[in-house]
Amino acid sequence: MEPKLKKDSFIGEIKEAIGNNTFVKLTLGKRAKKAPDLRNIYIRPVVIKDHLKLSFTYRYTSKDDVSNYTIEEGIKNIDEFLCKKFLSGHLFTIEKDVEIIFSHKLIPALKESRPTFNELPSSDHDREKLRFIRTKDNIYLRELGIANAEGIVKAGMHDKFRQINKYIEIFGSLLKHAHLGDNISVVDMGSGKGYLTFALYDYLANTMKKKVKVLGIEQRQALVDFCNKVAEKAGFGNLVFKQGNIADASLEKTDVLIALHACDTATDDAIYKGIKADASLILCAPCCHKQIRKQITQGKTDHPVIKFGILKERQAEIVTDTIRALLLAACGYKTNIIEFISTEHTSKNIMIAGVKGKGKVDHKKIYSQIDKLKSQYGIEYHYLERLLEKCENNE
Ligand SMILES: C[S@@+](CC[C@H](N)C(=O)[O-])C[C@H]1O[C@@H](n2cnc3c(N)ncnc32)[C@H](O)[C@@H]1O
Repeated sequence: MEPKLKKDSFIGEIKEAIGNNTFVKLTLGKRAKKAPDLRNIYIRPVVIKDHLKLSFTYRYTSKDDVSNYTIEEGIKNIDEFLCKKFLSGHLFTIEKDVEIIFSHKLIPALKESRPTFNELPSSDHDREKLRFIRTKDNIYLRELGIANAEGIVKAGMHDKFRQINKYIEIFGSLLKHAHLGDNISVVDMGSGKGYLTFALYDYLANTMKKKVKVLGIEQRQALVDFCNKVAEKAGFGNLVFKQGNIADASLEKTDVLIALHACDTATDDAIYKGIKADASLILCAPCCHKQIRKQITQGKTDHPVIKFGILKERQAEIVTDTIRALLLAACGYKTNIIEFISTEHTSKNIMIAGVKGKGKVDHKKIYSQIDKLKSQYGIEYHYLERLLEKCENNE
């Protein structure tokens, strides 16, 4: 291999390890004469404000200096230091060690060996959490603009990537409780640009090795067309997006119903469709809560919290979602409300998760709790309750 190609190949290994989240550390040593004070540079990944960076410790004869860089800047620096200031680079990943050594005539030699480390540094908790979705050779992350061609998460997309990983983390733990078999059908209502839909398909089909069918329903045709193209490019044969309105969707038996950030009562329509399709797992992240907020008005109730606009808003969210959770429980779902991550930095960062159970349900108790809440806040009706009543009356 040409000397330049060997150096490029070493830099490529570093990029790949970062993209694939297998990077442990890198040491630059064997200083060239041009860098007499600087003895070594130690490079390790750090997560700063949820962004993955490269931390460089410059070890001088009498002091250490530390600087943190974006991945792109860090790799550029390594490329510049290698061969000019340092004649050796030792890359440690959890898959292998790779060493490059330049002779005094600057001819490089590459050597691979078994990994010294088989775990990422355990103290780096934030980084551990970024691991659910692989970035290397990930076509959909690239097509969706989250990662670049080298599998590195782009500047400005770290929040989205973190949200996707959190979502898969939550989904994975709920899946264990849902006791589904190897064939899983999923419907994602209001799939949008598909960030979470693609990640879910990837996780189920490729990580969990399930035979999975995922359908994304989205009202905007342009997004549907875009997502279908990306699914084709990624080779995700059982991931299909269809244009439609959630309220009009007619679902066959569905195992998992997802609705993330579908606006206002579209979340209720989705939950209702999930219940009707006998979904074992229903997972939604509600968005705006207009339907209940409009009903909580002074006059119908003298509850002091509604005097303050912002608290009224928050109460509307809490009451809307509490009633949703209670209605799911009334339909036999073991329900939980958990924290999710919003990329918009709003308070709307929760998820309602319902796993179909087999136990007996105390309908009387649940409906009396719902009635009490409604009367406390002067609420005439909850949209999901109406849908379920309609269902019971077979309208
Ligand atoms: C805020 S985006 C969320 C997209 C995606 N679920 C996510 O969390 O990244 C909400 C999406 O739901 C779609 N949507 C809202 N109401 C809908 C409805 N009634 N039927 C179908 N799609 C709907 C919107 O067009 C939009 O693309």
